[in-house]
Amino acid sequence: MVPSQVNEIEAIRSLLDNHRRNDETIGFTPTMGYLHAGHGSLMAAARAETDVVVASIFVNPLQFAAGEDLSSYPSDIDRDSALAAEHSVDYLFVPSVAEMYPKSSSHDDGVLTSIQIRDLADRWDGESRPTHFSGMATVVSKLFNIIGPCRAYFGEKDFQQLAIIRTMVQDLSIPVEVVGCPIVREADGLAMSSRNSYLSPAERQAATIVRRSLDAGQAAIQSGSLSPGGVVDAIAEMIKTEPLAKLDYAAVVDNQTLVTPNEVGPSSHLLVAVYLGKTRLIDNCPAYL
Ligand code: PAJ
Repeated sequence: MVPSQVNEIEAIRSLLDNHRRNDETIGFTPTMGYLHAGHGSLMAAARAETDVVVASIFVNPLQFAAGEDLSSYPSDIDRDSALAAEHSVDYLFVPSVAEMYPKSSSHDDGVLTSIQIRDLADRWDGESRPTHFSGMATVVSKLFNIIGPCRAYFGEKDFQQLAIIRTMVQDLSIPVEVVGCPIVREADGLAMSSRNSYLSPAERQAATIVRRSLDAGQAAIQSGSLSPGGVVDAIAEMIKTEPLAKLDYAAVVDNQTLVTPNEVGPSSHLLVAVYLGKTRLIDNCPAYL
């Protein structure tokens, strides 16, 4: 069945209140749309574990900086609705920007309130995109307040995002269980992403270097390199073999704090961000297979 599309905050609230009155549990997958099998895996997990499944589609202006791809972000609501139907999503919440951010201030983004996450949001992707995580956390907390889910499903593809959401939920005592789901990949290893649609055919082929650079990092660890610097070098060297790719950053981090450890260990994780032309792709994997 095609999910019911709801565009207004009050409307989705009252529909979900009815389900709550019947003691039904609500599972939620926030997205920015242009859905693929990675998003589908989150919906499938929610479907398996909760009574009512809600997915949201909202391209959140707050998490894009000037000059980023807000205005060109891909969208196809009919295809998204069909994919949500395949996963038996009950409600698709698709608010407008005016519904989410009615201009209540003279500030460009329309809000006076935002969520700041110290330390965790400043490094790695936060260095390249300084306002991104605050905008992301603000919209996710707002969506949590609108939907009121028991469980919310996020992909490990966005590893830093997931760590930040877990921290926000804990710090603000938000009553939701955050569930992390494994990365879904294309057959050639490229992590699925709505932004893969920006790649030219040549860039798409070259993009396999992202996953292969992480493999090189894991191989270096496997062969005894326990210095984070050495592992980062192995990743960077692999990226250099692909002329269309440019490394933004590679890192070895602790999987909770996202701080680089003195030595690679069981809780270490590898992160990478790479430009293919103008498109910036991210990927990650545990240090040990
Ligand atoms: P978006 O990029 O649409 O991703 C929505 C969710 O799908 C995120 O939890 C993301 O990690 C997950 N996802 C994306 N690609 C995946 C893949 N290949 N495998 C598994 N999961 C994948 O992330 C956002 O939107 C936004 O920041 C959002 C959280 C919706 C806030 O605006």
